[in-house]
Parts: sequence; C-alpha cells; structure tokens
Amino acid sequence: MSGASEREANAGSSPTLASSQSVEPAWARRDAEMDRFLDELIAKMTLQEKVGQLTLLTSDWESTGPTMREGYKQDIAAGRVGAIFNAYTAEYTRDLQAMAVEGTRLGIPLLFGYDVIHGHRTIFPISLGEAASWDLDAIEESARISAIEASAEGIHWTFSPMVDVSRDARWGRGSEGAGEDVFLGSLIAKARVRGYQGDDLGAIDTVLATAKHFAAYGAAQAGRDYHTVDISERTLRDTYLPPFKAAVDEGVATFMTAFNEYDGVPASGSRFLLTDVLRDEWGFDGFVVTDYTSINEMVPHGYARNLAQAGEQALHAGVDMDMQGAVFMENMVNSVEQGRVSQAGIDRAVRRVLEMKYRLGLFEDPYRYADAERQQATLYKPEFLDAARDVARKSMVLLKNEGGTLPLAADANRIAVIGPLGDSKPDMIGSWAAAGDRQTRPVTVLEGLRARAGDGVRVDYAKGASYEFADEGKTDGFAEALALAEESDVIVAAMGEKWDMTGEAASRTSLDLPGNQQALLERLVATGKPVVLVMMSGRPNSITWADEHVDAILHAWYPGTQGGHAVADVLFGDYNPSGKLPVTFPRNVGQVPIHYDMKNTGRPIELGAPGAKYVSRYLNTPNDPLYRFGYGLSYTSFGYSPATLSAASMGPGGSITARATVTNTGDRAGEEVVQLYVRDLVGSVTRPVQELKGFEKVMLQPGEARTVSFTLRPEDLAFTRADMTHGWEPGEFQLWIAPSSGAAASTPVTFSITE
Ligand code: BGC
Repeated sequence: MSGASEREANAGSSPTLASSQSVEPAWARRDAEMDRFLDELIAKMTLQEKVGQLTLLTSDWESTGPTMREGYKQDIAAGRVGAIFNAYTAEYTRDLQAMAVEGTRLGIPLLFGYDVIHGHRTIFPISLGEAASWDLDAIEESARISAIEASAEGIHWTFSPMVDVSRDARWGRGSEGAGEDVFLGSLIAKARVRGYQGDDLGAIDTVLATAKHFAAYGAAQAGRDYHTVDISERTLRDTYLPPFKAAVDEGVATFMTAFNEYDGVPASGSRFLLTDVLRDEWGFDGFVVTDYTSINEMVPHGYARNLAQAGEQALHAGVDMDMQGAVFMENMVNSVEQGRVSQAGIDRAVRRVLEMKYRLGLFEDPYRYADAERQQATLYKPEFLDAARDVARKSMVLLKNEGGTLPLAADANRIAVIGPLGDSKPDMIGSWAAAGDRQTRPVTVLEGLRARAGDGVRVDYAKGASYEFADEGKTDGFAEALALAEESDVIVAAMGEKWDMTGEAASRTSLDLPGNQQALLERLVATGKPVVLVMMSGRPNSITWADEHVDAILHAWYPGTQGGHAVADVLFGDYNPSGKLPVTFPRNVGQVPIHYDMKNTGRPIELGAPGAKYVSRYLNTPNDPLYRFGYGLSYTSFGYSPATLSAASMGPGGSITARATVTNTGDRAGEEVVQLYVRDLVGSVTRPVQELKGFEKVMLQPGEARTVSFTLRPEDLAFTRADMTHGWEPGEFQLWIAPSSGAAASTPVTFSITE
C-alpha cells in the first residue's frame, strides 16, 4: 500500500476523474489464438448448448430470492447451464466442474460467481464503511484480499462492486455502495475493480468484477427497494452513471442489470442503458448478467406479456446472461427457431461469456482455481485479519467528542458496555457478508475492549435494550443496565441497527434507533456518567437527540471480523480516527433525500431575513443536516490556510492548481482528508451549490504543516449541458479547500474558464 506521503510526492497528483481516464484493460486486447479457438468452439455448439452458456443458476447452498429451479446438477450434466453461483470451496466447485468438463459433449468449463462484497472469509467493514475511510489504497487492498480468498475457494467472479449512488437513507442498499457522491463513488469503483481484477485476469488470485446494478437502482422512489425510478436523463447521466463509467474505464469485466425500471423500461430490457450507453457510448466489451430473476420480473412490471417475450426483450436490449430466472434456458431456442431472435445475437452473447472463461484460463485448466491446498493456506491469513482491522478503524467516523471524552481516560477503571450491539457476533459483519462466519470469528466490542483494557480495568456488559422493532416500549433489561452504569466510570453504549436492517429488501420509513434503545440511551445519559455512543448501522440514522445529549459518538458501521479490536483501537486512542462521512446524516427522515450537492433554488434560505416565510425551508426543522457529507472529527485539530490559485482563469487545454496549507494544530499525530469543492455559478442548466472535485488524505505530526495541491482542468468541471452534450462551459467558479462540505458557507476563492 502506498501511503499518503508517497502520493504527496507526486505533486498535483490527487486523483481527478478526468485525469484517470480510460486505459484498455489487458483482457480486452484482441488475441488471435483466442479468436481461433472460440470460432472453432462456437461452430461446434448446438443452439441449446449456446443458450446454456447464457444461463446462470444458483446452487442449493443459499440464495437471495425465490429458488426458481431445482435440479441444477442435472442441468450442469446436460450442458444446460454455463455458470453457477452460491457454490464455493475448492472441493465443491471441483465436483461441479467435473460434471461440466467430463460429463458434457463439449466439456466447456463452468464459471463460478458469488457475492463477495466486503470480504470473502475475512470480512472487512461494509462497503459504505470502507468508503468513509476515503482511503483508496486501503479499499483496493480490501478488494485484493477478497479476491485472493475467494479465488482460493474456486470462485472466478464476484458480483461486486455495487456502485449505485444512494441519496436516500431509507433505502437499505446504501450500505453496499460508496455513498452519495459521484466523485468519491467513481474513484472507489475504480479502486475496487483494480483490487478484484488486478492487471491480469489469468492470474489465479484475481476474479472478474461486476459493476452493479445498472442503473439508477439507488433512486428508488420513497427509498423502497425495487421501487420505480423516475429521474431525468440529466440526473441519470450526471449523478447515477459516472461510477459505472469509471468502472468501465478501469476495465471491469462484467455488468449486472438493476431490478428497477428507468423511464418506463425495466433495466433488464433497456436497450438505451445496455446498448446505447454501455456498448455504443462507453465501448464496454465484457458481458452483461441480469440481476436475480429480473427478466422474469418484466412480466409483473407490465413490460412483457410472458416470459418468452421478456427473454427476447432482454437479449435485444443487450443482456448476455440470465441470472436464475431460466427464461433463456426455457424459451430462447424456440425464440430463435421462430425467428424472433437472431443466431447472430445469440452468438455474440455466447462469445462474450466464453471470452471471459478463456481469459480466466479455464479452457487450459478448468480446475486451476479449485486447489484444496491453496485454499487451506490462504483463508484468514494473519495479514488479511490485520488489514481488515486497519480498514475498520480507518472507516470509523468520530461524530462528536465533547470535552475530550475520547480517547478513554487512563483512569477509567470500570467500563460498562451496554446495548444490543455490545456483544453480538452476528451483527459485527453486517449484511452481504458472503461466506463470512457470523457465529464464531467476529470480535465483538466487548471482546475488543477487554482484550485491550488490560489488568486493573474491568469491562462489564449488559445488553439492556433491544433493536427489534417489536420491542419498542419494553423496559425489562433497563434495571440491570442502569445498575451497571451507576457502578462504572464510563458507559460505552453500543447501539444501532440489527445487521439485516440494511442490505437488500431492508428499507425503513424511520431512521431512528429501532426497538427500545433510545429510551435506554436517555436513561443512561440521565445517570450523569460520561456516555460514548458507538453506533453500528449501514445507513445514516437520525441521532439528533444523541448529538445533543451524549458526550461522544463514534459511527462504526458494521466493522467486520476484527471490528471489536478496531473499536478498541479508536476508543483507547491507539488509532486516531480519520474517517469522514460519505453520506449526509439527516436530522430526521422528513429531510430525505438530502445530499451536499443540492441545487440552490430560486429562494434559497440564506437570501431571506431570519424567519422569512417564503423561502425554501421547513416550518419545523432547519434545512441543514445533522452531519454533513465529508464531516468527521479527529483527536487532534487541523487548521487550513486560505486557498490560493495558480491562475485566475484557464482556457481550453489549460489547468489551474489550487493549494492550501493544512496544519496539525493539536498534540497528536493524525490523518486529515483534505477536500476540494467547486461551484459553477451559472450554467446552461442550473448547477449544484458545490461538488467534490478532489481530496487527499494526509498524515500530519503535531505542529506539522503540509501544502496540498489539486490540479483542475476544464474537463473536471464537465456536466450534461442544456443540449445534452457532455462538457464544460466557460464562466465563473467558486472553490474551497476544506475539512468537509460545510465550507460552502465560508468565503471561496474564484476563478473563471474562458472560451
Ligand atoms: C442482488 C444482487 C446479487 C444477486 C445474487 C440479488 O438479489 O440484487 O446484488 O448479486 O442477488 O446473489
């Protein structure tokens, strides 16, 4: 991993999107030998065998939806399926592979896919948590380790990264992505693709990555999962598509469609998304898989009369592989025979799938990823566990720290851990923890604190409250918890949401602490003891009361296998927190959707006199969120000099370098995420009040100062203009270099772009 100082050495090299443009991935290079091999193979295949290669089925190990099909083993043996998911271990994948390779006419190897989302066996923080680290090297490393472990268990392909921008805290799947921002999300998408795929798909420790869910899944109305998406094409292009484009630019091998419709067309049937944008505009060369039974779902969507028509629509739109619906399997031969789908269309999809199998080296040795010895030697390596702990502590965001409550005082001899998340192994690893062990391996907060506290410090636990919705109003555990609290020097309240309250099909209409946790928290605060709230959750919660009354708040997401140790590292001050929020935390659910890059409106609140009525505001809640995007505290403090610019204007082909000096003004070493925001004052269409355009994470010793610089080119300020072309416009801009998105209220420096 290269550290901040190494990055700093490359002056002006903070990542910008325009400067990290597309490089052709090694796998996309033409290979005459492969072409010959595939020509011959495809020429030998029957139509039925071809359709088999376009079919992905789950094994019976587990699934994330209705199992549509029993008897997948017979399907493998009959050559009716080309790819399997939810099957892993060297032994199991070897057995299934043998059925395909030795039992079918052409012996075409199977491709094994799996949801390796934030770790395979060694579980890292949930993806949203990792995003809060703003540490691209650490995020890449996490994906790299996931690929190493997964590939050692026979997996060739991960259904990750999920690159859906999400701006609605009600939606449960925000936990799987990188948050609300286009720029941060795009760079994280790239880091994850690099981590999974490396630079050689043929290496046995890399896997194919999947950019999902294409597209705009995060814009589900009212935050309800699978719900309708109805946004303008401009918003689609400027907000939801860039992380997908970034994944293509990084060479992602596969795409997964989304469950939702876009502009009246289900994504799995959208030729606009899958062909016009993905293939024709972006030049994507890999293959497209649907999400789970999403071709079938085009019938209840009301877009197809029956499954046969849905399959035809999907293939025409640009789908190559049908996940779990068996629609291609059961209808496509007939559709071709009746002339509704062309042979050429089938051959194109088959070739894309077989190419990936070839690039993985499966035709050379179908068993090369199924090596029991490698598996044995690889899983849970100590260095993987160390990396998971490191990413976990980097992901944690210190939201409040009144009076230096944290780090815990050296004379805190009795620590009370209270709350349903204080000693709960299953919760530590969050949702989509793939093959993660939920029962035995995760280190809980209590275990982590006990391991660190050492002799003479007692760490006791009382659950006290419950996060189950049904337990709201109950008080049965309170007395025990309060008695423990009274005897303690400090209370660590570990509260939040149960692990499966975010993830798929986990939307909420309230962002409050579920169950009876809030009531207990209020009683704990009433004891007068210092209270540290350690929040675990996969979404922004409305912890407005806690913000007013609790002494310190650390947002720990679901921190993974080593999570308890990471919490202890931060609470005891062995690690100085450096995470910053990748999502806005609303004061209450009524502010949703809320994000830092909103539009100004014609009646911005700042223009009205205090209390003015006819401005864009609520009667009962301020417009400001509880915590802003980019916000996070440290145990030290940082000072920012005013930003300076290398020039007051730039023209086409030019650039401007913005600089600010950041000083560690406290007495501890610490890392700061220095952020660059820009506002385009007037456009051919209205522009957001600020947009993140750069960031750099720097480590500073006490008293140390560092000048951070960002180079901007006109292309970095491109957007979808009034005529729907993508590009920049000349005009005036404001710029801030700041510790969070809250800086937009402060005085900016200005520059212009000339024609
Ligand atoms: C999810 C995908 C996932 C797939 C396979 C679906 O329900 O939406 O994200 O990759 O299942 O498990």
